[in-house]
Amino acid sequence: MKKVSDILSFFLKELNGYYPEKEIKSLFYISIDHLLGYSKSDTIIKSENELLPDFKIEFSEIVERLQKKEPIQYILMETTFYGLPFFTRRGVLIPRPETEELVDWIIKDNENLEKRYLDIGTGSACIIISLTKNLNGSFYAIDVSPDALREAKQNVKRNNVDVNLEQFDILDSDLDGLWDVIVSNPPYVLESERKYMQQNVLAWEPKIALFVRDETPLLFYERIADQSTKVLNKNGILYFEINEKYGKETVDMLAQKGFVNIELKKDINDKDRMVKAMWK
Ligand SMILES: C[S@@+](CC[C@H](N)C(=O)[O-])C[C@H]1O[C@@H](n2cnc3c(N)ncnc32)[C@H](O)[C@@H]1O
Repeated sequence: MKKVSDILSFFLKELNGYYPEKEIKSLFYISIDHLLGYSKSDTIIKSENELLPDFKIEFSEIVERLQKKEPIQYILMETTFYGLPFFTRRGVLIPRPETEELVDWIIKDNENLEKRYLDIGTGSACIIISLTKNLNGSFYAIDVSPDALREAKQNVKRNNVDVNLEQFDILDSDLDGLWDVIVSNPPYVLESERKYMQQNVLAWEPKIALFVRDETPLLFYERIADQSTKVLNKNGILYFEINEKYGKETVDMLAQKGFVNIELKKDINDKDRMVKAMWK
């Protein structure tokens, strides 16, 4: 690797067989943007620029870690979510594009209103920070994981927002306060779905953020719905991200508990992914 143009060939050669070619190119563009601040067109315009030795080492390290299927977001320790920058470290779930769709739904529903928001299982705090940046009101978030709370705190600081964070086990403690909007993207992958998951998720991302037992797929949803009946204001709204397999069950469960105006929404891949419900 002597010039900028050599980096792509290096990625393609060293990662051949580990990822499809299209993905290797995308990993290359993410890496060169992160390390050199180059856009796609910069990589063409500056293709003959000489590569400094430090960068050669850094690109080689990235490739080595990619060969171990480590997610690029953990390697670079950051990602973008809803147009905002987030730190991403091992031990905390990497924010997903589906969750951006949930955030978008909440923002469109609540524009220009002053509300109290609570995010349950906040992880990197990607949901609550995006809401804080785009809506008015007060913003709270809880998570059981100390790693998640540490990262959430750093992300709150990085995005210069005001979010109250608290360590809290939603399965073990009762919520208090009064809320207009409660949102949660809780663990929803079944243990039996492990075998269909990619190695870069399974080996690297925290189990506590992902899995529930097959016997209790709606464990978090039922608990959060029960708690919400006690702490949601009249006309308060509950938003969930869900496992695509459980759209109907989630809707039925919410109806049974007395929620109204229940809506199930698909994601961009046409999978049942989000539910909202109102508390009367
Ligand atoms: C699917 S991740 C969602 C993270 C983040 N909200 C997002 O959308 O990227 C689920 C989160 O729930 C948290 N969690 C798991 N069990 C919990 C519990 N009993 N009480 C509170 N949070 C919990 C995990 O630590 C994890 O951060």
